[in-house]
Amino acid sequence: MYSRYGNPNTVALAEKLAALEGWQLEGATSALMTASGMAAITAAVMAIMTPGSTLISHTGLYGATSEVFNLLADKVGFNIAWVDFSDMSEVERILESNVVNMIYVETPSNPLLNCVDLKLVSEIGIKHGAKTVADNTFATPLIQQPLSYGIDVVVHSTTKYLAGNGQSIAGAIITRDPELYIILEKQIRLMGSHCSPFEAWMTYHGLKTLGLRLRKQVDNATQIFKALTQMDQVTKIYFTGDPTHPQANLIKAQMRQPVPMISFELKAGLSAANHFFDKIQLIRQATTLGDINTICLHPDTSSHRNIALREKQKIGITPGLIRLSVGIEDLIDLIGDLNQAIK
Ligand SMILES: Cc1ncc(COP(=O)(O)O)c(C=O)c1O
Repeated sequence: MYSRYGNPNTVALAEKLAALEGWQLEGATSALMTASGMAAITAAVMAIMTPGSTLISHTGLYGATSEVFNLLADKVGFNIAWVDFSDMSEVERILESNVVNMIYVETPSNPLLNCVDLKLVSEIGIKHGAKTVADNTFATPLIQQPLSYGIDVVVHSTTKYLAGNGQSIAGAIITRDPELYIILEKQIRLMGSHCSPFEAWMTYHGLKTLGLRLRKQVDNATQIFKALTQMDQVTKIYFTGDPTHPQANLIKAQMRQPVPMISFELKAGLSAANHFFDKIQLIRQATTLGDINTICLHPDTSSHRNIALREKQKIGITPGLIRLSVGIEDLIDLIGDLNQAIK
């Protein structure tokens, strides 16, 4: 077949991801591969949103996701209600007075690791006839399976943990809704936002070590979190394995383990962050995450650079914030590098 219509590599990968997310439609896969995580998110929005309808999402999403929502809202003519999901009564209020087609969540969120109650969101979506979409990139299906809580659609940037090699870019959509699957398949095929067979092949092989990688990454992250709590230069730490995380109960209920991402704030702000990036030796500064290498990034000037200053201040993306994606290197080497760079 012509590869835009389907390719054995992409189909094999889609079937594997559907199985991992715990959702195979009868006799057919429920997953589709796309050119990137952003292509998967765009496909979901284009398939579900209609002119005049409303999309509800929480603040603090990955920067490009908020940007693409704003872009598509202008083009398609839908409205966006940005809500703080810690108060679900506000979500209900919007659902009662608007035609809401989609409730979109990213949990844990990038980079501040806020979590959303997937079961509650799916129940509210079902009650009001809105489709629910969850970005499961940070958790992966080994840690959290949104479809099992009743969420309609899961999107992934497989570029990150699922591939794990930092060498491929692809995305995935997995849905429990057979009608939506048909719309998505047609749309991705006609718009040409399919995944290339080579990227699918890279991701397929990367996926085989996901369990092993995550185990080591989570162990490393847990120890690094403890080390950071001892450093005077660090004022705030965001980690889903923090027993004092404000959503610790929710995390325990819907995630099997913490995700190996840590964000932390340096007391001395931007100058300290710049020094940190200059001083790291083993850890790399790069615009990705979920790699076997430990990677850090400055959200304020990279992943969230196009988000308005007022919005960044509101959600907590400050000049001193550093996002650390913990890899599989030797723990002593990692803590040594962090120690010397922070000091
Ligand atoms: C949570 C999340 N979703 C989606 C994306 C977009 O993925 P991609 O770069 O594969 O388009 C990213 C990228 O960093 C992300 O962090």
